[in-house]
Amino acid sequence: MTDEDKNEMVVTPWEVKGKVDYERLIQEFGTQPLTEELLQKLAKHTDGLHLQLARKLFYSHRDLDVVLDLYEKGTKFVLYTGRGPSGPVHIGHLVPWIFTKHLQEKFETRLYFQMTDDEKFVIEDDAKLAENTRFGYENALDLVALGFKPEDTFIIYDVQDIDLLYDIALEVAKRITYSTAKATFGFQDSTNLGWIFWPAIQAVPCFLHKKLTGENVPALIPAAIDQDPFWRITRDIAQKLGYYKPAQIHCRFLPGLGIGGKMSASEPETAIFTVDQPDIVKRKVWNAFTGGKGTLAEQKKYGGDPEVCTIFQYFLYLFEEDDKKLSERKRRCIAGEIMCGECKTELTGRLNKFLAEHQKKREKAKDIVKRFHIKR
Ligand code: TRP
Repeated sequence: MTDEDKNEMVVTPWEVKGKVDYERLIQEFGTQPLTEELLQKLAKHTDGLHLQLARKLFYSHRDLDVVLDLYEKGTKFVLYTGRGPSGPVHIGHLVPWIFTKHLQEKFETRLYFQMTDDEKFVIEDDAKLAENTRFGYENALDLVALGFKPEDTFIIYDVQDIDLLYDIALEVAKRITYSTAKATFGFQDSTNLGWIFWPAIQAVPCFLHKKLTGENVPALIPAAIDQDPFWRITRDIAQKLGYYKPAQIHCRFLPGLGIGGKMSASEPETAIFTVDQPDIVKRKVWNAFTGGKGTLAEQKKYGGDPEVCTIFQYFLYLFEEDDKKLSERKRRCIAGEIMCGECKTELTGRLNKFLAEHQKKREKAKDIVKRFHIKR
């Protein structure tokens, strides 16, 4: 295998490998970039742009313009996002959820949140159903800890709630051919049957609101760009079933603390989990890949490179809301005026402060998480 092959980009809902070229994904998936004009249209309803939009963590969409036009004419929308619970939540997962909560607040709308404990079971060889279900509960605590409104937030646990999903899943599955599914997801002869049917389940919450309330409104899905293949096939059949096409707003992945690649639970040393304790966070940040030079002397002389620095990304996307302070940090880094240790210490402090709060709320969530479970 050549170095080029090793670095080749693969982005599917179940695998992300190589250096992710986000612009190329827009082309390949056929989504739209978020233009300034569209951002302004959105900002009218949200009292300014959320940090994750301003910093272009969310960068692509399908039909966001359509959803906003409808909204301006009096048709609301619902939000839909989800999580495949196969392990603990890390801060890369929290990022789009934080943005989703912002949308929920500004548009005063419902959120359907799908906990796909069945998904991980069918796709991972050694997955245990009971384990995934347990993580579904654990991960829901993280969601609830972010402060979503219980009266407007509906968590669906696939295995437990399949009775609610199954009729719509059948309607969806019947209208998607194997050849479409194969072309979209790369299924092969060796792919198990559960997996082949499974995408119909992820489509369901796009349409569930009508069954529950009688109201036909579009769903807007904030999610990482790797989920887009699901929405492609769902959009194709939505109108045949009498629904709006679901709209999407896509984000990039929060990078991990290692060289390249997204934050991933399978690389625990480069991921910050929400339950990590301060000394663990300190160690992980301390070992992070930065844009620094080999020695202090060199760095003072030649400066660092914030573009490749994982630490800088956390200030950019999460912890430095002030544009001036962010560009000052960048300038000082390039000029060799600030050393990596300083940024690492600051980031450790910010992360641990955030996590201490989150962990408290996560404990409290145990008392109320049941209220978020979707009702019949
Ligand atoms: N497939 C997603 C995962 O593996 C879980 C998921 C279900 C989801 N529905 C979603 C993610 C809607 C985003 C939006 O994590």
